Amino acid sequence: MNGRAVKRIVHDAEVIARRVGELGEEISTAYPTGQLLVLGLLKGSFIFLGDLVRQITRPLQVDFVVAASYGDQMQSSGHVRLIYDPETELEGKHILLVEDIVDSGRTLNQLMDLLSERRPGSLEICALLHKHIATELHYPVKFVGFDAPHEFLVGYGLDHAENFRHLPYIASLQ
Ligand code: IMP
Ligand code: MG
Repeated sequence: MNGRAVKRIVHDAEVIARRVGELGEEISTAYPTGQLLVLGLLKGSFIFLGDLVRQITRPLQVDFVVAASYGDQMQSSGHVRLIYDPETELEGKHILLVEDIVDSGRTLNQLMDLLSERRPGSLEICALLHKHIATELHYPVKFVGFDAPHEFLVGYGLDHAENFRHLPYIASLQ
């Protein structure tokens, strides 16, 4: 069908649910005051974000960003522009940017630069997975679901050529 098959389940649905519950608690206590805007980076974060916000027990708003890379077509150039810009006001709010996986960190660098210009009250990153090879990332990832193996992962929102996003678990590919 698409040439590649699932090799190994890295985190099953039960393990993910438990970790997302813990993250929800961490986030709820990290923001005792102020307005919280949870900003999902599409498309990869869509399932994680849906589960995560239901585990956060303080008031919040949800919006999304869609970023497109341009420039060098062969690799993540780090030049991004927003093709969907959040309609929600960012100024003065606690912004929590939710990402599926941090790989090189180039996308995140640019996006964080762009979002800081909107003068949020605070700006932090929550990533489901972190490969810890992001030597170029100059922002800390405050909330991390799992440290990721240096393999290509799919499922629970992550894709390979738009496939596998619907899998309820995170898996590596053959
Ligand atoms: P970065 O700019 O190199 O950090 O790229 C991050 C983006 O690349 C993520 O939001 C994913 O969309 C994609 N990506 C990186 N590694 C993987 C992976 O293992 N599986 C699926 N997508 C990945
Ligand atoms: Mg992708």
